[in-house]
Amino acid sequence: MLPAIHDSGTGEAVLFLHAFTLDASQWDHQVAALSDGMRCIRVDLWGCGASPPPPNGEPTLDGFAGAVLAALDSLKIDRVAVVGLSMGGYLAFALWRRAPERIRALVLCSTRAGADAAGFRDDRLEMAERVERERSVESIVEPMVARLLSPQAQAEAHIVDPVRGRIRRCTPAGIAFAQRAMAARPDSTALLASINVPTLVIAGTQDAITATPEVLAIADGIPQARAVELDCGHLSNLELPRTVSDALAAFFVPATMSS
Ligand code: MLT
Repeated sequence: MLPAIHDSGTGEAVLFLHAFTLDASQWDHQVAALSDGMRCIRVDLWGCGASPPPPNGEPTLDGFAGAVLAALDSLKIDRVAVVGLSMGGYLAFALWRRAPERIRALVLCSTRAGADAAGFRDDRLEMAERVERERSVESIVEPMVARLLSPQAQAEAHIVDPVRGRIRRCTPAGIAFAQRAMAARPDSTALLASINVPTLVIAGTQDAITATPEVLAIADGIPQARAVELDCGHLSNLELPRTVSDALAAFFVPATMSS
């Protein structure tokens, strides 16, 4: 089943993959900044944004990665640059595992290569069961906001209110799918050395979900990677939209996009 696809602009294709509890609109600023010269493709995870509910069966990011590749096929797009933040980064690793020949460059923001520790996995499964039991995502809105955004961003209504809105647009089924799929994801550390495309890694120094050293370790493991540290929380592209859009524009120079 195809996810909802948002297709803006013309040029070389860039695929944007959103974080947990958000949706494709997380990337609005970057798409506005880049779509004059690039074709910006975004997908919503099943049960989030405009996507249909998750399909039956084992929830895996690998399964969703297959749906993302099918979405690219439906658009007749062969190769893309992939930009993923957090869960979007986990998905980028799943795409690399399945179809590295389709990826021409990578941007990995606030994400990690390792799998979850056991306690973390239990917390995910508990949240999945809770939202399904409550048939609502309301109980996770404020705890997620507190983890996703730095204290100063939480005080900025124009940043925090749209984040709350996006969380509320996720369905319990979408949240449960994402948490179970993230809990089941494999360790991607051994994959890093095989990533042979230009890669930009972006870390937030106030990230409460993914510690800066974990993010920077990705750049250490990928031969052609460079890293940028920004003074922000987990959602760097929403806290510092212009800085992240400029970093992407500079990274996607013709040299990165050729071949
Ligand atoms: C995300 O922002 O995508 C998630 O918080 C990542 C995670 O829970 O590991």
